[in-house]
Amino acid sequence: MKRLIFATNNKHKVQEVRAALQGHVEVVSLAEAGLAGEIPETADTLQGNALQKAQWVWERTHTDCFADDTGLEVDALDGAPGVYSARYAGEHCSFDDNIDKLLAALDGKTDRKADFRTVICLIENGEPRYFEGRVDGHILTERHGAEGFGYDPVFMPDRFAVSFAEMPLDVKNSISHRGLAVAKLKEYLEAK
Ligand code: IMP
Repeated sequence: MKRLIFATNNKHKVQEVRAALQGHVEVVSLAEAGLAGEIPETADTLQGNALQKAQWVWERTHTDCFADDTGLEVDALDGAPGVYSARYAGEHCSFDDNIDKLLAALDGKTDRKADFRTVICLIENGEPRYFEGRVDGHILTERHGAEGFGYDPVFMPDRFAVSFAEMPLDVKNSISHRGLAVAKLKEYLEAK
């Protein structure tokens, strides 16, 4: 089976992506690959950050690998927090801090449309290739649900009446930004 190192320190993401690629690809976490440390992500686009993170692993291992970068893009905030979604409320802030800041920024606003967009950068034999997934929805006025991570409790995808944090993981994976990007990655790897 093809083996790919996933350049993330986020255990939730490893779990999600491993489930999606099960039977096709062995997804190896950074810890399992013996890699430690903070991966830099200083680019100002999702694509740039995904490349930077995958390159960090490639340079250290010369093993095929991939990285993803995701942004929550809110229409009424001109696409913010976007590429800065992880540290929207400041360096080392928590998921809860980010949600509090987002709810405050949207307080009283009727346009609550938003999307999650993920870009995956796969590096094979040193060559980068990109896969993108996007899900549209809106930001709720308060938290709902306890599953998932990040902004999940306040994001309700279109055509659903529950937040991402109220969905079983397999349902979220089947419609989410990262799920769609991973599906494209899977399709590419299967076609080889
Ligand atoms: P990352 O670049 O994929 O690490 O994502 C940046 C930030 O976006 C994360 O720190 C989360 O706050 C948020 N995020 C990414 N994916 C999700 C998701 O599936 N649900 C909720 N929030 C997410």
